[in-house]
Amino acid sequence: MNVSDSERVATRLVSDGFEITANEAAADIILINTCSVREKAEHKLYTRVGQIRKSEKENNFSKKQIVGVLGCVAQLEGETLFAGRNEIDFVLGTTAVGRVSEAIEKVLGGQKNYFDLGMREESYDWSVAENQRHSPFVAFVPIIEGCNKFCTYCIVPFSRGREKSLAASEIIRQVLNLRRQGVREVHLIGQNVNSYRPPTDSGLENFRGATPFSRLLRAVAATGIERIKFNTSFPRDFHPDIVDAICENENLCNWVHLPVQSGSNNVLKAMRRGHTIENYLEKIDKIKSASKKLALTTDIIIGFPNESDKDFQDTLKMADYCKFDSAYIFKYSPRQGTPAFAMTDNVSEAVKTERFLELEKLIRLNQRGIFESYLDKTVEVLAEKVSNKNDSELSGHTTCQKVVNFKGSAEILGKIVKVKITETKTNTLYGEIYI
Ligand code: 5AD
Ligand code: SF4
Repeated sequence: MNVSDSERVATRLVSDGFEITANEAAADIILINTCSVREKAEHKLYTRVGQIRKSEKENNFSKKQIVGVLGCVAQLEGETLFAGRNEIDFVLGTTAVGRVSEAIEKVLGGQKNYFDLGMREESYDWSVAENQRHSPFVAFVPIIEGCNKFCTYCIVPFSRGREKSLAASEIIRQVLNLRRQGVREVHLIGQNVNSYRPPTDSGLENFRGATPFSRLLRAVAATGIERIKFNTSFPRDFHPDIVDAICENENLCNWVHLPVQSGSNNVLKAMRRGHTIENYLEKIDKIKSASKKLALTTDIIIGFPNESDKDFQDTLKMADYCKFDSAYIFKYSPRQGTPAFAMTDNVSEAVKTERFLELEKLIRLNQRGIFESYLDKTVEVLAEKVSNKNDSELSGHTTCQKVVNFKGSAEILGKIVKVKITETKTNTLYGEIYI
């Protein structure tokens, strides 16, 4: 979501006459887009601002660079980011980013400590200019912003506000437009995509489905764009019809990201997730028994307050049952302002580390089995970029969201090619183009 926000901010700035530079030292204005989900978000921000100011001094810049802070830390901390430091020039909240040029104008006009934490304007433009996308072939399309779920550990409902869905007709218009521009793969994004609830039926009239989200999936599939992925899904609202929609449409990709967070009902209850482990496993059974082979990924938090050894064993059991293609594991980190902040963070760092490593080991083991099952098989890969490590290699994703590296030249970038898998490593498949 933050990458997508940055793309839209850059689009807006360019259309208002600003120029984007990759050279930080040459910039008149530096914008920092922040995340506050985990770890020491403010600390990271201050370190970064400190570096900018230090390099200004070292290089004897004639003019101070303007530093603006965007994103979740901006929304949560607001004015307090100015306190006593005189290092940050303006602060723009998560729903105020459409007014980035206005904020800059204010600062250029001499206004000190300018901040805007206001609402998103009705006329906000969600589209991204072609040259501001993170990839020429893959595009993010926000379909819902914010979150109403208030899981007790999570800052997102406070930093991103309540759920607000975009009109389906607008989403479809964007996807058609992206398709015309040569985009092969769209990711429908939002904190909880399957809680999608648009203000009207506009754009969905001709599509059936048990929920507005599964209707939207069918509507986006009908645009004919080659690949459609979506994340993140919320287990409680994950209707089996989503799996049916995926199985009916070739271009709905073979991947579901469904964060479970814990395998223990005690912990899930304390997290106020709204699902039990039994509910979750039912959804997993539906996904695993689908007619298409669907990859399954998840997020898990270990060390939530009062998580006992038995709770953790339940998480291991759940992970072993689910056989995730991959999982993001996070150590619980208390976030000020969330309900769980009042609970004692009573799982020691040492135990968190121990549990983290044990869970990671189990997930890696299962993952290895899944990855090895691809050996000698042929998969379709969207050639997205030249590999970071090797100029003669390209890198891309399968429909099941596996990263695949293979030998190939830049001319085939943007094409979907058949690759025969010859080797596997943690999180990556390697192969050769198969003709
Ligand atoms: N501590 C640790 N992990 C967290 N996440 C969200 N809030 C916290 C927190 N306070 C994780 C969840 C979520 C992912 C995006 O970040 O697993 O799914
Ligand atoms: Fe956070 Fe829960 Fe909302 Fe996900 S569903 S963004 S974890 S509050």
